Amino acid sequence: MDSINILKGYGKVNDIDQRQPARRSILLAVAFSVGVLLTLTFGLLIGGGFMHDGSTESTASPIASEKAASLRTVCGVTLHPDSCFSSLSSLNCSMRPDPVYIFNLSLGVSLKELSNASLFMKHLKERSNDVHSNGALGDCETLLDDAQSHLNDSISAAALGPGEKVLSEMKMSNIQTLVSAAMTDQETCLDGLEELGSALLDEVRTMMQRSKEMMSNSLAIVAHMNDLYMKFQKGGMH
Ligand SMILES: *[C@@H]1O[C@H](CO)[C@@H](O)[C@H](O)[C@H]1NC(C)=O
Ligand SMILES: *[C@@H]1O[C@H](CO)[C@@H](O)[C@H](O)[C@H]1NC(C)=O
Ligand SMILES: *[C@@H]1O[C@H](CO)[C@@H](O)[C@H](O)[C@H]1NC(C)=O
Ligand SMILES: *[C@@H]1O[C@H](CO)[C@@H](O)[C@H](O)[C@H]1NC(C)=O
Repeated sequence: MDSINILKGYGKVNDIDQRQPARRSILLAVAFSVGVLLTLTFGLLIGGGFMHDGSTESTASPIASEKAASLRTVCGVTLHPDSCFSSLSSLNCSMRPDPVYIFNLSLGVSLKELSNASLFMKHLKERSNDVHSNGALGDCETLLDDAQSHLNDSISAAALGPGEKVLSEMKMSNIQTLVSAAMTDQETCLDGLEELGSALLDEVRTMMQRSKEMMSNSLAIVAHMNDLYMKFQKGGMH
């Protein structure tokens, strides 16, 4: 299956540690230095009286830190863990320590970013007097509509039936196909502009960056779903 090969490009390679002991000690040293730096900075902040009392950030409620831990675990399998974490943690919704639930949130964010990109594309086309690019922009509009509909379908496909606790292999495979198709739609839009040598290429590429990263994150999460089930069970998070 082509989609499987495409998927291998997403997610982290986890065997760096075993293969490169030297690199590992460098990483440890860096991690240690960062830790020391953070401790110092934090000490300075408190010493300088920047914090009103002990109840701000440093002693976040157990619920908030459990939510952050779940998100970090899930986002840890992606290529863009920071954008993954910041977009999901800023959602105003209840959080469950459940990888399927968090995965579904990531699909929702992907769709939101894609519809923002699509809106932006429509505005760009309206204000563009670059006749040269207009055909390709029209294609892009259609492609982004298709991409949104694929993602919308992937959210339906991620719903669990009654009594179902995990996503079946069949569902995961369908979701991967749909999200990959949405990513391909975006790429095809960029290819069209590139072939024309359109002056708008960079602008459109920038505008699609967030949705591209978020879809890549969703693909990485679903590709690592079985690992995530295990992590959440072991951590007592399930
Ligand atoms: C978050 O959601 C709650 C309930 O849905 C709502 O009352 C609150 O105003 C929302 N907060 C923000 C910042 O949107
Ligand atoms: C997934 O998220 C969407 C909103 O993006 C929501 O409508 C749907 O109920 C969620 N599904 C599950 C299984 O949580
Ligand atoms: C998204 O999917 C739902 C459920 O399949 C459907 O009712 C809705 O019309 C779809 N929305 C779009 C914009 O495709
Ligand atoms: C929507 O897209 C525009 C253009 O890329 C960007 O500046 C803006 O931050 C986006 N908004 C959201 C909510 O993602």
